[in-house]
Amino acid sequence: MRRFLTSAALLAAIWTGSVVHAQTKVDTPEMLDKCMKGIGASFGAVFKAVGSNAFADAKTELAKTKAYVTASQEFWVVNKKDDALQLAKDTVAKMDVLDKALGAADAAAVGAAAKEVGGACAACHNKYREQDATTKAFSLKAGVI
Ligand code: HEC
Repeated sequence: MRRFLTSAALLAAIWTGSVVHAQTKVDTPEMLDKCMKGIGASFGAVFKAVGSNAFADAKTELAKTKAYVTASQEFWVVNKKDDALQLAKDTVAKMDVLDKALGAADAAAVGAAAKEVGGACAACHNKYREQDATTKAFSLKAGVI
């Protein structure tokens, strides 16, 4: 519980505009969608920073990504999807490995760990995300909840 509270506080600090600040709980498909958009943006920034060897910047963006992924776990708890919750936890664990590699400024380890994180995101997307063929919009797979 403590971890959720901590990440909710961090989310309140990094989420802006369209999201009501008091409601940082990710427990509806709409909130999951917002959360994933945030994850996409911050993880994209991690890759961009890694690409220019700006490891300190990458670490900052990674912390945001981790806060989002941690907050997103609430959605799977509420909807009783233990396997998805585990996939989200695996993603966080792989982000911790990446964080260490960034801290050590070990470019080879950073590359390998970043790939692992991407694989962890994809493991959940393959199972729980779908894309509209026409609009290309992503959503939660039909029938999941
Ligand atoms: C446990 C499951 C799970 C994990 C882990 C996960 N995602 Fe997602 N993601 C989803 C689901 C479900 C959707 C579809 C929800 C939606 O977009 O409405 C989604 C959607 C997205 C989208 C599309 C958002 C949009 O609507 O435009 C992006 C970008 C994204 N995820 C990035 C990531 C990244 C990067 C990671 C890893 C750091 C990650 N996700 C980890 C389940 C997950």
